[in-house]
Amino acid sequence: MRRVGIIGVGEYLPERVLTNAQLEKMVDTSDEWIVSRTGIKERRLASESEATSDLAIKAAREALKSANLAPEDLDLIIVATVTGDMPFPSTASIVQNALAAKKAAAFDISAACAGFIYGLSIANQFISNGAYKNALVIGAEKLSSVTDWKDRNTCVLFGDGAGACVLSEVKSGGIVSIYLGCDGSDLSLLNLPAGGSRKPATRETVDNRMHYIKMQGNELFKIAVKTMTEAAQIALAQAKMTFKDIDLIVPHQANSRIIMAVAKRLGIPEDKIYLNIERYGNMSSASIVTALVEAVKEGRVKKGDTVLLDCFGAGLVWGACIINW
Ligand code: COA
Repeated sequence: MRRVGIIGVGEYLPERVLTNAQLEKMVDTSDEWIVSRTGIKERRLASESEATSDLAIKAAREALKSANLAPEDLDLIIVATVTGDMPFPSTASIVQNALAAKKAAAFDISAACAGFIYGLSIANQFISNGAYKNALVIGAEKLSSVTDWKDRNTCVLFGDGAGACVLSEVKSGGIVSIYLGCDGSDLSLLNLPAGGSRKPATRETVDNRMHYIKMQGNELFKIAVKTMTEAAQIALAQAKMTFKDIDLIVPHQANSRIIMAVAKRLGIPEDKIYLNIERYGNMSSASIVTALVEAVKEGRVKKGDTVLLDCFGAGLVWGACIINW
């Protein structure tokens, strides 16, 4: 089996910033409530003319440049998203065309906030078994397009953005372990009820605001803390490592209180945790990858460091991944 690592990173965050102060004018909320309950200060919103693929393409171009590869070097493009441009064709097809990645197979995966780690694991398999040489894994979301801007329970939490990584064979380091999980027994905790084959769009679904994210935050909070703690422990056990071996934890950025509760349970000091939730909110598939990209750009991840990615999301799905940089 070949060793697989991340050889290039990129991101794109839309220019428009929506602050908590602006949200105070839209729903019955306060900056104090949002910051103390979630850690979020502001989030980015794509413009009306920007779709998820537009964000993904910009992140992908930066990742290719940083990997020093041309689009035609790519064998595979995976886009993790729950807000693709349209139900079909895939957003990955749109990205493939825009990049002119002529050789690449391309598809989307839907694993919500765990989408990027699920995507990493697929790309890892293709490269480690020798089927492909270079893969691009993108996490991209325009969650503002499915956010109910009249629902204070959810609208303060989400944002838009994209991050991308190029994976290839590496001589040293690379992906050490990946653990994925799913429990689909309670879909009502977090979903988008209409617009699929179960409830196609009708006047009634629109009137009932069923094309927006529905969430039972309180219940999810508890499950997220437990599941992310266990996922991190399992990925470490698979790698025969302990937390002492980890230089930086890059968790899914849903709520800083979830992240700190996980850190406390695992006995990890706060300075080993990377947070960017205050600037972007929860961007589902795009959260963990943009956090990783920014940690690399800021020098928080250096060559030889060992990084743990840890996530949880709608499905429910979860995953953890250890990478030696
Ligand atoms: N502004 C002000 N008050 C708000 C509010 C807002 N934006 N949103 C909810 N509230 C109110 C509620 O109505 C409730 O009021 P009540 O006590 O009068 O009924 C009160 O705040 C507490 O609500 P609760 O839901 O218990 O708050 P919480 O501390 O659990 O925080 C979340 C809410 C959503 C921030 C938190 O539960 C969370 O982050 N959950 C997990 C989210 C998650 O993991 N998502 C998906 C994984 S990707």
